[in-house]
Amino acid sequence: KKVNIAIVGATGMVGRTFLKVLEERDFPVNNLYLFASSRSKGKKLKFKNKEYSVEELNETSFNRDIHIALFSAGSEVSKKYAPIAKENGVIVVDNSSAWRMDKDVPLIVPEVNPEDIKWHNGIISNPNCSTIQCVVPIKPLHDKFKIKRIVYSTYQAVSGSGMGGIKDLENGIEGKPCSKYPHQIAFNCLPHIDIFMENKYTKEEMKIINETQKILNDYNIKITATAVRIPVRYGHSVATNIEFENPFELKDIYKTLKTAKGVILKDDIENNIYPLPLEAEDTDEVYVGRIRRDFSVDNGVNLWIVADNIRKGAATNTVQIAELLLQTI
Ligand code: A2P
Repeated sequence: KKVNIAIVGATGMVGRTFLKVLEERDFPVNNLYLFASSRSKGKKLKFKNKEYSVEELNETSFNRDIHIALFSAGSEVSKKYAPIAKENGVIVVDNSSAWRMDKDVPLIVPEVNPEDIKWHNGIISNPNCSTIQCVVPIKPLHDKFKIKRIVYSTYQAVSGSGMGGIKDLENGIEGKPCSKYPHQIAFNCLPHIDIFMENKYTKEEMKIINETQKILNDYNIKITATAVRIPVRYGHSVATNIEFENPFELKDIYKTLKTAKGVILKDDIENNIYPLPLEAEDTDEVYVGRIRRDFSVDNGVNLWIVADNIRKGAATNTVQIAELLLQTI
């Protein structure tokens, strides 16, 4: 069956990648509606060799036969328009953080918790980009050895801030000022992603912590995080320290990750092989390497986890969620 799809934020970094991924995966699209702000009204975007005109998003945008809407236009747009879409019988898959921690909203990574698709009420959330790439390899390890605690340290690409992030990096290299970030990002790194919260963590850090627990459906795992923006265009890297309840052999970690869905092992230090953001760019897999025992605790391991934040971290995961929905429509 072919479905009618709407894309909200179609002109953005993730929105454009939605189109690319839908086309690559041969998603059964019937009618396609593209929405963005008034700035983009009338702009043309291509899908499968056909041009589509971008419409300005408004309250009546969903008054037509749309089965699924993929949203990536920021939290404020999602907060306002996802309920309107839902009222019109549209199923929303939302890439913003607006609904992720809502008890009525499933938060899904298809390799990890596809079963949560069953209880949606019209809105499904796509997790934060760093969270997605970490839970893909972490889930099978948790199933085997039971995770007690995680320490995340992220190295995040500027594309995570949309077109504005890429511009700030490129302008900075040319000595021009930043507009998206509070400091120069070129030749620098910023321990500051999203806003600061009352507990002194950034909102990004709290997203990774809370979303990991929700996706794994285990609120006993203790987690802390430091999220850092670095001058890389595409691909987030996360140094992940994990402490298990149970003892393990390093070879069993390799074995588990080797067969894990969506994971590619890149761990051959003798040949300088480990995951790199430049190599992850434009691919849909999660790369894991630098696997080694944490000697400072009883059952600890360190992983270096890399993925394309715009693909697996956003567009691809959202389209995979839409693929799960196809079976229910
Ligand atoms: P526009 O291109 O018209 O500004 P990015 O994160 O890459 O900057 O992309 C953000 C996306 O969200 C763009 O498609 C942008 O459209 C869209 N967007 C931003 N604000 C609104 C809004 N108020 N209504 C609809 N779309 C919006």
